Amino acid sequence: MIELRSDTFTLPTKEMLEAIPLAALGDDVYQEDPTVKQLQQHAADVMGKEAAIFMPSGTMANLSAIMAHSPRGSKVLVGDETDIFIYEAGGAAVCGGVMYEPIRTKKDGTLAIEDLAEAIPKEFEDPQFALPSLICLENPHNRMGGRVLPLSYLHEVSVFAKENQLPVHMDGARVFNAAVALDLPVNEIAQYADSLQFCLSKGLSAPIGSMVVGSHDFIQKVYRIRKMLGGGMRQVGIMAAPGIVALEKMVDRLREDHQNAYKLAEGLSRMDGIHCDIQMVETNIVFFTIEHPNISWQNFVKMAKERGLHVAELGYGRIRAVTHAGVKSSEVDEALEIIEHIMQEAVVGHFS
Ligand SMILES: Cc1ncc(COP(=O)(O)O)c(C=O)c1O
Repeated sequence: MIELRSDTFTLPTKEMLEAIPLAALGDDVYQEDPTVKQLQQHAADVMGKEAAIFMPSGTMANLSAIMAHSPRGSKVLVGDETDIFIYEAGGAAVCGGVMYEPIRTKKDGTLAIEDLAEAIPKEFEDPQFALPSLICLENPHNRMGGRVLPLSYLHEVSVFAKENQLPVHMDGARVFNAAVALDLPVNEIAQYADSLQFCLSKGLSAPIGSMVVGSHDFIQKVYRIRKMLGGGMRQVGIMAAPGIVALEKMVDRLREDHQNAYKLAEGLSRMDGIHCDIQMVETNIVFFTIEHPNISWQNFVKMAKERGLHVAELGYGRIRAVTHAGVKSSEVDEALEIIEHIMQEAVVGHFS
């Protein structure tokens, strides 16, 4: 099976598995696991932040960060197409008593500064308004096709946030993909966020884990929230060890995933009955739609699966294909062949 549903399907590398039995272990709730400490130091250094904390998942990382920034009853300005708003079960509302204010997401994954400004009450003294406490950005933006937020835009948001005394949290689940796409060290991106979470378990191929980075004081708050949410783990160096390998060995190879995504998008853009905007492809995510009356997206996804290709639908009939370490360039060619055959059959009316 060619697995293009998500880069979360990546398996740990041999080196990661070999690192597990060698990991020095301690109790990480006591902050005494040397392997976790090493990973956290590495993450903080590479992001240019004072401190980092290991998290079981990106969802808990975002939730803990939002709760650390935002008092109960405050509102969080968050894009209406973000993972935080759509796929994280409303955690900050449920656990943190925080209101999400969804901001319209532009095609490139950015939130217009005017729209952010509109969400800030003109009269802070007027008791009818919930007060804003945080701006959340997603970079790269998954549901907007893996688009990378430009540094100039991040700068603009950070200036706006400072003017309004709001911190910025970045959901950088795939932030290393953004750094590779921009050909810049990742701290150039992280500098515009007060806190950032990134996942070790997506393109970087570790089996488990995310990191939150930020100031020392902020990460201390996150420690307490992580414990409260049940995310304090004991000898979790066994999971931090693959994370260290992920950071040391798996970042540069993301470039291959981007090349494969571009190749896939190029092939798709030439096919009859498929719409794929190649200009949108900046990282490892490709979106396309089926534009032929003889075949629905549901049928397409089913046929592809029967022929050995897994893809996912991600809203409005858009099909998402994500390249990753488990997909070779030759498998991208195979995927294109499978899709071409399905579409040729559709054109001659086979599925009508
Ligand atoms: C942009 C983004 N943020 C956060 C997450 C959540 O990560 P996790 O699945 O580790 O909870 C995901 C997961 O796919 C994601 O794509």
